[in-house]
Amino acid sequence: MALRLGILGSGKGSNCRAILERIRDGSLDAEARIVVSDFGDAPILEIAREFGVPHAHVAPGNFRTILEPAAEQELVRTLQRADVELVVLAGFMRVLKAPMLQAFPQRIINIHPSLLPKFPGLAAWKQALAAGEKVTGCTVHYVDAGIDSGMILGQREVPIMPNDTPETLHARIQIAERELYPEVIGCLAV
Ligand code: GRF
Repeated sequence: MALRLGILGSGKGSNCRAILERIRDGSLDAEARIVVSDFGDAPILEIAREFGVPHAHVAPGNFRTILEPAAEQELVRTLQRADVELVVLAGFMRVLKAPMLQAFPQRIINIHPSLLPKFPGLAAWKQALAAGEKVTGCTVHYVDAGIDSGMILGQREVPIMPNDTPETLHARIQIAERELYPEVIGCLAV
């Protein structure tokens, strides 16, 4: 039985696109039940439309880094109505709290642009550059109550070149992300 995904994102949606492409070409045994964004005009919702996947906007309320509790409850209901088994964070820029963590225990995963536990938090590729690292990468992990601290499910290394800028490095990491994320979801699907 295909794993029933709910994909959450705030922005561009390149990871979401990679996952939907792998589902469409049959190489990932999953079903995208819904795509949800906290921004009504996020490109990730356009991608859902393009692939014919149901999509929803959940208004986040007045907080900047989390959802207001009522909004988070609405998100839980939206995902439950869509019969989602696994919540896939794909550039979702808010920290999930008790309503989501309790509704989907060990059923929320995230992709982060560093080799965790190194460089949790924002703009991890800039952190890696500033630290003078030679190698960084990306990590898929379970989401828990901490910041980028849940159990690691998979990682991919990405070299840092001497002339890298934050933009060139982030672009190289994102290429690796788009391979790693569908691969890890595929492992959870069996
Ligand atoms: C990715 O770089 C991911 O590591 C981070 O957010 C970004 C999302 O990019 N969590 P996209 O929206 O999938 O293009």
